[in-house]
Amino acid sequence: MRPVTVLSVVGARPNFMKMAPVLRQLARAPQFSSVLVHTGQHYDESMSGVFLRELAMPEPDFRLEVGSGTHAAQTAAVLQRFELVCLDVKPDLVVVAGDVNSTLACALAAVKLEIPVAHLEAGLRSFDRRMPEEINRILTDSIAQLLFTTEASGIANLRREGVAAEQVHFVGNTMIDSLVLCRDALEPMDAVGSYLLATVHRPANVDTADHLAQVLDILEAASALAPVYFVTHPRTRARLAHQAARPRLVQIDAPPAQPEPGVVYLLPPLPYLEFFRLMSYSAAVLTDSGGVQEETTFLGVPCLTLRENTERPSTVTLGTNELVGLDRERVQACLETILCGRWKAAAVPPLWDGHAAERVLDVLRARFRPD
Ligand code: UD1
Repeated sequence: MRPVTVLSVVGARPNFMKMAPVLRQLARAPQFSSVLVHTGQHYDESMSGVFLRELAMPEPDFRLEVGSGTHAAQTAAVLQRFELVCLDVKPDLVVVAGDVNSTLACALAAVKLEIPVAHLEAGLRSFDRRMPEEINRILTDSIAQLLFTTEASGIANLRREGVAAEQVHFVGNTMIDSLVLCRDALEPMDAVGSYLLATVHRPANVDTADHLAQVLDILEAASALAPVYFVTHPRTRARLAHQAARPRLVQIDAPPAQPEPGVVYLLPPLPYLEFFRLMSYSAAVLTDSGGVQEETTFLGVPCLTLRENTERPSTVTLGTNELVGLDRERVQACLETILCGRWKAAAVPPLWDGHAAERVLDVLRARFRPD
């Protein structure tokens, strides 16, 4: 019998940890033939190559090499190039993850060729349409046939948008599968709880000089309580070059042996395991990333999200996360509570247990069962 061909897509950094566990399960299932496409939305060694290796992902069968560009140019390049791959491979299913431009572009190319699409991390909504990711989420979910959700809000959102219940499968969080798998490889650290970790890269926070200055004010104030490691995405790095010099900001390549309070250490993008280690042992994380909100909740590390909304509300209602916007006083007050050990009690959301990809495969097996 001909195996079922599953064409999986990765494009940008947050896709790798969501897709790796599913690829691992597909490789073990003889009824499926797994083909991997890397769109090249992220292309640097530090944003892509090192993640493929650390997560033990297979070498992509196709590299589309679309690179950076405006939203329209990037999305259009993926659309055109991914359509050619679909015509060549003729997959039975295309699997996309998350909310990046590659997610939407590949889903759109596939459905126009009448190839069914499965969306990992479906149903999340920030209800803020100024976020490019929110548009990608809404549109991808509206054309995908199989919607794999990570949390209760995703199921409720899809129901409200009129998606049929039989299309929606609550499987849990495949990104947490990657954490669980790599947890044992983490090396211990002496400096547990003695520093703060920050990541900020959303256009809303870094693309205007005024907002980026507010972010830096927040991090500088926080550093008075504990040294801050600010891991910078290339987008943030580029914007920082246009800011006035700040003596408290110190550029380094790796965390120093003796970090000093009052300093914000600027680090380059870090490999998965190194970032995971810094996150695990930090006193608290300040971020505007979606994935980091979830990972800190899983790890039980307090998280302050420098946004007014989140598409991952279970990290706030159940987990360690709190939305603080760009409110410096609120951040200081929260950090003082955290450093006194009085942060809210938190739980890990249901099915964030390291077995989400197995549940994805169960659904795929049932869907493609030979008659
Ligand atoms: C993308 C995703 C965002 C995700 C983020 C994680 C969309 C709409 N956004 O945003 O949801 O949180 O990835 O990283 O898809 N660059 C490099 N090297 C690279 C890739 C990018 O230097 O490998 C630089 C380029 O100058 C580029 C800028 O980073 O212009 C932004 O990259 P881009 O892919 O446009 O969006 P992200 O901000 O990374």
